This record gives sequence, structure tokens and C-alpha cells, in this order.
Amino acid sequence: MADKAAHESEMKVLARKADPALLEADLVACFACEGDVAPRGVQDAILRRELAAEMKAERFAGRMGDALVWNADGRFPSRRFLVFGLGPPERLSLETLHEGCARLIQKAERLGAARLGVGLPALEDASPAEAVRAAAEGLHLGAYRFERYLTDARRRRAEVAVVELATSQGSPAALRGAVERATWTSRAVALARDLVNEPPSRMNPLRLARRAQELARQAGIQARVLGPQALRRLGAEAILAVAAGSAHPAQVVHLTYRPSARKPRRRVVLVGKGVTFDSGGLNLKPGSGMLTMKGDMAGAAAVIAVMGALPEAGCRDEVHGLVGIVENMTGPRAFKPGDILRTLSGKTVEVDNTDAEGRLVLCDLLAYAVRQLKPQAIVDLATLTGACVVALGPRCAGVFSRHDKLRQEILEAGRRAGEMLWPLPMVENYLEQLQQGPADLKNVGGRWGGAILAALFLGEFVPREMPWVHLDIAGPAFQENETPPWPVGGTGAGVRTLLRWLER
Ligand code: BES
Ligand code: ZN
Ligand code: ZN
Repeated sequence: MADKAAHESEMKVLARKADPALLEADLVACFACEGDVAPRGVQDAILRRELAAEMKAERFAGRMGDALVWNADGRFPSRRFLVFGLGPPERLSLETLHEGCARLIQKAERLGAARLGVGLPALEDASPAEAVRAAAEGLHLGAYRFERYLTDARRRRAEVAVVELATSQGSPAALRGAVERATWTSRAVALARDLVNEPPSRMNPLRLARRAQELARQAGIQARVLGPQALRRLGAEAILAVAAGSAHPAQVVHLTYRPSARKPRRRVVLVGKGVTFDSGGLNLKPGSGMLTMKGDMAGAAAVIAVMGALPEAGCRDEVHGLVGIVENMTGPRAFKPGDILRTLSGKTVEVDNTDAEGRLVLCDLLAYAVRQLKPQAIVDLATLTGACVVALGPRCAGVFSRHDKLRQEILEAGRRAGEMLWPLPMVENYLEQLQQGPADLKNVGGRWGGAILAALFLGEFVPREMPWVHLDIAGPAFQENETPPWPVGGTGAGVRTLLRWLER
């Protein structure tokens, strides 16, 4: 099977100022909230009246995902109209519009519409361009499928080829810009999902490193791969230890984006955990906990996908992407509880649990970033702890930082992107739990507050004054159940937030 992106959405999205009544399509969708008597964003009096009558006759409730089809019988350019529910009006926002559009595209596929029109509702605290972007990203991401291993019957049958978004306001340039932003953003998210969804024996460390190189070449950014020899020379003993039980050697990929014209605003490093499979190592995970561990490279996938989109995003920062790619296995040379590692920073770490491997990979990358790149900001992404999933559930990432300004920037980018992020504290007092035993640090502490302990461990490899944010994406990176707008499997968590943060 070819080693290329499994899913490239061919769907074309356009946006213009128009009334949905005038759109030429197989199906035109308009939205309504709970309690609405008519669809939103429809000015045309006749269409509005007809749809309102239909909503009343069918007792349309307007709950998220509710759908009502109406045949226009040749009285409008579109043969059919669809009224689509967006839920309670007080929750109408960029986020619910995004979700509604992700659900809508799936409905439109089931109805066999090749050309879809969508009338967008007005939002209170968002511009028409922002609404267009949220909607277009919802449509693209709702249409995402990972189907390259399905041989026939369950493959999707119909695909929507063209979507035309109609808004009541907005300049053509602003609307076109919003659609473009949505296109490269969604492409990056789909890429991150594809990388995560590939089965673990295919997406092994060497393959993932090669894919990163290939994507860098396509995007026109620089890529350098550090194999075991280079890592040994650097003294990256922690990364090497995690890979030791695997047949696949450790790989670090260093991607570099430099803005073309002007002097960069600042230097940023993105760090990603790329454990292509986490068996737990000798502290073996139980079968149930292992099933989703092909997703333990989601941080690296997000970093690779974001880096590839930076040229199109017109990013003004110099951005370095560092991904540490290993497989955590139990082979004869596997690292063991009780081992003491000399990390790249020079600090020594006693391995108390081989399943706390992510922090070992990241600590060498963080030290490398600090020493070699002297950045103004570091953000790391990692499916780091089950404890973070216990704390925040499957949709929300944990945000750790000692730097209020950078944390605020990331939280704000997440809000605009519609990704759920929540700050968790770095309780400095707990650090003592890691400062025990024969080495400078242990890789695990006590039973409680596991996500915080992991963040504190990482913090020991970043100078206090350096702006650094750690995102624990263990919950949102991988979904075990379908929860629209997210599919089962990889979600691309973090990609939209980072692109909102870094784009021009
Ligand atoms: N990759 C896991 C964390 C994880 C768990 C991600 C569930 C996604 C879903 C990580 O390497 C791990 O195993 N962490 C341990 C740490 C413990 C041994 C201190 C954990 O969370 O149990
Ligand atoms: Zn683990
Ligand atoms: Zn892990």
C-alpha cells in the first residue's frame, strides 16, 4: 500500500454574500435553533414562509443534528432544502456552528447531494469571516474518513463535491480568505489523523520519520533526522533507553520553518511525543489499556502536521518542530525498572516505571531545544498521562505552564479554534516526590496527581524563566467512541489551536 496521505478531501468550498434561496445546488441547508419558528439567515420571504410552515407541521425541535427535508418542486434553483438543528440558541457559537456543519456534511452525504448549499446564521460575537471559517472547517473535518483499509461494503458511497456557503455579510476578500484558512487548517488536521490512524506495525519509528521528511519536502521546509548514532553523540540516553526494547531504532526529526521575507518575530519550538506504540515496556499495560496505544504518537503527528502548514499560514515566527519517535516494547534489551539514565541535560533519572516513557522522550527533546535553539517559546504536545484523562475527560486537553502570558496566548488560540483546553496547576510542592532515590529524579511519583507530576518532571528540563507550555492531550487525541464532530480514532487534537496561535 502506498505510504501517502490516506485521506485528501477533494471537496471544494466557496463562500459569498447571498441568500440561500438563490443557491443552485442539489440540496440547500439552513440552520435553526431550539424554539426557532423559522430558519436563520433566510431573507427570501417565500422560502422563509414555506420552511417555517414545514417546521411547524413536522414539529421540528431544532436539537443539534435534527434534520428536516423539504422538496421545493421547482420553485427555487435548488430542488431540495434541509433545515438543520443547532441546539439551544444561547449556546449558538463558532463551536456549535463548527459541530453542526460536521454533522450536516454527513447528512448531506447520506442524502446523496453532490452540490450542497449552506445558509449560515448570524453569530453574536463573531465576524462573518470567522463563521465561514468555523463552518468550512466543520464541513471538511466532518467529511474525514479513514478508509484505506476497507475493501468495499463499508466504504462511503457518496461524497459532496462542492459546498457553497451563503452569508448575509462580509467582503469577498474576507470570505475567500476564511475559506482558504479553513482549507489548509483542515488538511493539517486530516494529516495528523491519518498518521495516528495508521496501524502501529506500519507506522513504526522509521516510517514516521520518513513521512515527516517527505511532508517537509512537499511543504518546502527543512528536515533533519537524528538516528541512534547522532542521539548517542548528543547524550540523549533517555530517548535511547525507551527504544532499547524495540526492533526499531529511535528517531528524532528536527523540522525548521523560516518565514521567507522578513526577519522572524521570535523563535518558537514545538515538541511532540512520538511513541508509535506504547506497550508499557516491562511494566506491561493490560490489554484494554494497550488497544489505543498506536495513538501515543499523536503529539508528534500534530507537530508534523502544523509544521507542514506554516508556509501557507504565512507564519512570521521561526518555528522548530522536534519530534521524538520511538516504540516502547519489551525486547531482550528493554530498559528496566531500576535503570539509571544520564539524560541529554546531564541530569540523571531513575526509571521506576517503564510505562512513564513519554516524559523520558520529552526531557531529552526539551533539553535539546533549550541548549541548541535558545527559543523565546516552547510548546510541547504529548499523550502523556491517563491521569489527565481522568481529570478532564476525553474531549479536553490539560494546559500546564509557569508562564502566564504564554499560557494565556495558547488558551486564547484554543478558544478561537474551538478546541477544549483547561489549565491545571504545577503544584511545586509535589516535586519532592520525584526527588528521591539514587538519581537526581525518578520518572514517577506517588499515586495521585499523575498529570501534574508528569508536568513537574518535564519542568526540570526547562529553565524557570523560559516561556514553556505543556499540553497533555491524552484525552482528546484519540476517541474510542464516535462523538461528532470527531470520528473514532485520531482527532488531530492541538493542530487547530497551534495554527491559530502561529498563523499571520
Ligand atoms: N501513553 C500513556 C498515557 C496515556 C494513557 C495516553 C491513556 C492516552 C490514554 C503514558 O505513556 C503512560 O502510560 N502513562 C502512565 C504513567 C504512570 C506509569 C505514572 C499512566 O498514565 O498510567
Ligand atoms: Zn506509557
Ligand atoms: Zn505513552
